[in-house]
Amino acid sequence: ESKFIHRFEPATSAGSPPLLLLHGTGGDENDLLGLGKMISPGSALLSPRGRVLEHGMPRFFRRLAEGVFDEDDVRRRALELGDFVTDARQQYGIAAPVAVGFSNGANIAAALLLLKPDVLAGAILLRAMVPLSDPPKTDLLKPELGGKPILLLSGQSDPIVPATNSAKLAALLSEAGARVDHKVLPAGHQLSQADVTLARNWIRSVD
Ligand code: MLT
Repeated sequence: ESKFIHRFEPATSAGSPPLLLLHGTGGDENDLLGLGKMISPGSALLSPRGRVLEHGMPRFFRRLAEGVFDEDDVRRRALELGDFVTDARQQYGIAAPVAVGFSNGANIAAALLLLKPDVLAGAILLRAMVPLSDPPKTDLLKPELGGKPILLLSGQSDPIVPATNSAKLAALLSEAGARVDHKVLPAGHQLSQADVTLARNWIRSVD
């Protein structure tokens, strides 16, 4: 019995990777289903609702202020989300998913990649920032993220995520062994059509 309210849509075409959809602050399990279908038509979709409430708005972990995270909560919630994915894989019979996270959802996906890399097959991180100031140390001989593909799409004029922060996240994930593709788009914090197009082309290319 899962602790996360969620939606699951089975795959309609074999061979498309399952997606783990992670919404932004104030979103819910329905928000990203349309985006998931645009990015990878035919994929199974697993879409949980964040369990933390901030003034009634669902999120995936607590924050003290915008961009200032309760890092103990980030760790705890990332592991809890990892357990949810493991259980859901059993229940629904799906492979390890590619995360598609936006904003707060991208940040918990980044935390999951750093803390429990086996849970995800890869990730599309939309407007993500560094989730942990002191992430686990990487064993350089055996990088945890071993070649996993990650697409990081940042907004050039994002008021929440400074360019230095997204660059640091890209570096952290690369150092942990991931295959990171980082693009900075002429956009703010909101998604643009370019995000959808780039994500769709990227997931086809890593398939
Ligand atoms: C966060 O809290 O994860 C970031 O500030 C992004 C957001 O949700 O606004």
